[in-house]
Amino acid sequence: MSLFISLEGGEGSGKSTQAEILCDRLAQQGYRVVRVQEPGTTDLGNHLRSYLKSTNSPLTPEAEVFLFAAARSELVRRIVLPALEQGKVVVADRYADSTTAYQGYGRRVPLRNIRSANDLATAGRWPDITFLLDVPVEIGLNRARVQTSLDDDRDDGQRDKDGSKRAEESDEQRFESAGVGFHKRVRDGYLKLAAREPERWVVLDASMTEDLLAHQVWDRVSRGLEINATELEGMGRLPGF
Ligand code: TYD
Repeated sequence: MSLFISLEGGEGSGKSTQAEILCDRLAQQGYRVVRVQEPGTTDLGNHLRSYLKSTNSPLTPEAEVFLFAAARSELVRRIVLPALEQGKVVVADRYADSTTAYQGYGRRVPLRNIRSANDLATAGRWPDITFLLDVPVEIGLNRARVQTSLDDDRDDGQRDKDGSKRAEESDEQRFESAGVGFHKRVRDGYLKLAAREPERWVVLDASMTEDLLAHQVWDRVSRGLEINATELEGMGRLPGF
């Protein structure tokens, strides 16, 4: 039984942890789950991720739109759509709403251009449920910095010579250079998107504990699965997952 779920939020909102908890729980219950990450998952997506992490020269906002859209086109056509057709549950750690929030609201690329890029990249397939893990910008940025330095400590001693240290430093610089104002625009942008489409979005306060958050995510996902099962039964098809 297919269901498409995405998790969105600013830096340090805990999306990736929640994506992992959700995927484990779905798998335990017998669902076939595919977890994807943006940028990432496909060859092109992984290249884009490494490129963004290692470069020190900022891209123009327009180039970012095209790069994220190109990687998303690959992801949607090669992984997301086939998985949904096979009746799997797809959990996406970021999707097209990230481009609207970051490049549209954050970097001020006109929203009509973002819409066109997203329409083409997604083939019109938007998630059934999108969670916004909303956290005040200062708290999120602090969490993200703590995470970066924890990773730094963990990697000490086994870091290869090819510059992963440099990559982490440039990640840190990315947070700094983007500035708090940028991250506030991203957060406000997300909240506007959620308010505009309340049937798809679920806004959760990401400053609550991991467990509580996971509970609320599961509550909504299990309702989505029930609705899908009922619809399939109504059509005379077995839910068969
Ligand atoms: P990542 O390390 O995955 O950050 P996070 O853990 O917050 O998801 O890096 C993804 C970065 O790319 C993040 O800063 C958001 C940005 N991004 C965009 O600006 N636009 C997009 O369309 C996507 C998918 C990501």
